[in-house]
Amino acid sequence: MSLDKSIKEIKTSFRLDLSNCKTLTDLENLRIAYLGRKGKITLLFDDFAKLSGSEKPKYGKALNVLKTDLTAAFNKKSNILSPNQGKSSDNSTDFSLPGYNLPKGSLHPLEQVTNEIKSIFQSIGFSVAYGPEIDDDYHNFEALNVPKHHPARDMQDTFFIDPNTVLRTHTSNVQIHLMENQDPPIRHICCGRVFRNEAVSYKSFCLFNQVEGLVVNESSSFAEMKGTLEYFVQEMFGKDTKMRFRPSYFPFTEPSAEVDIWNDKLNQWMEILGCGMVNPNVLKNVGYDNTKYQGFAFGLGIERIAMIKYGVKDIRLFYQNDKRFLEQF
Ligand code: PHE
Repeated sequence: MSLDKSIKEIKTSFRLDLSNCKTLTDLENLRIAYLGRKGKITLLFDDFAKLSGSEKPKYGKALNVLKTDLTAAFNKKSNILSPNQGKSSDNSTDFSLPGYNLPKGSLHPLEQVTNEIKSIFQSIGFSVAYGPEIDDDYHNFEALNVPKHHPARDMQDTFFIDPNTVLRTHTSNVQIHLMENQDPPIRHICCGRVFRNEAVSYKSFCLFNQVEGLVVNESSSFAEMKGTLEYFVQEMFGKDTKMRFRPSYFPFTEPSAEVDIWNDKLNQWMEILGCGMVNPNVLKNVGYDNTKYQGFAFGLGIERIAMIKYGVKDIRLFYQNDKRFLEQF
């Protein structure tokens, strides 16, 4: 049928006319003649509308291909003729120029340190647990052997949501949730954000991150706790790191200790964590038989570890999201 022929003819004449276009005006005239409202292609579509239903699919496709091809050829020529873009296709593009460096994202330094701490403890059989950041007074204090009005509450300045609900001041609340939900043996660490209503300075912020560890079974001991923490310090800071255990006090552990490591650069001991044997009262509060089970717990501040590891002198830098700081990690 003639549509077939018309398609071929138009194709040939379009190519010829296109190659004769020397200016943008020529090109515009060509566009009107072929692709305009009364152009040759548009008229072909009118013929197409008169076809019988069975012929439509074949010619519909052929017409669409024709229109796309001609439009592409037209655009190419238009690029060559237009004054600005013309130049770029005139060999003036230097393909050997280096491209732009796309900025590369990375994990926040606190996230990196948390991951490192997690994998050290996971390598010696600890599982990772999470708990609520907003908790009731009972899980954050009372069950941990810190009764109301006890002076130990002063150790942690608390943000209250209402008289019975707090932003957790430590991740120790997860100890209680864990033990309420499962029987011994327990061997878990828990990481997360904690909040304290402290004066903000280079060494303390209203928000920071902790990792808490809890082991409860029938045989755990202070010696095992020491061994565990020594292993952690050596993996985290190097085999030759000097460390010491110092007696301390926490209401939820008895006896309690704090661990310092020697900082060569600053020539001083730096406290990195608190620890101790779980106070039998805490085991009783969660319904464990404290004549049968015993355990140890420890808690460390991630910012503190990151500051020592990377030599960061101001904790607030971790929270300012300044790219110049973050890009160094
Ligand atoms: N919860 C304590 C704190 O935030 C740390 C700690 C955890 C101490 C577990 C002993 C045992 O300071």
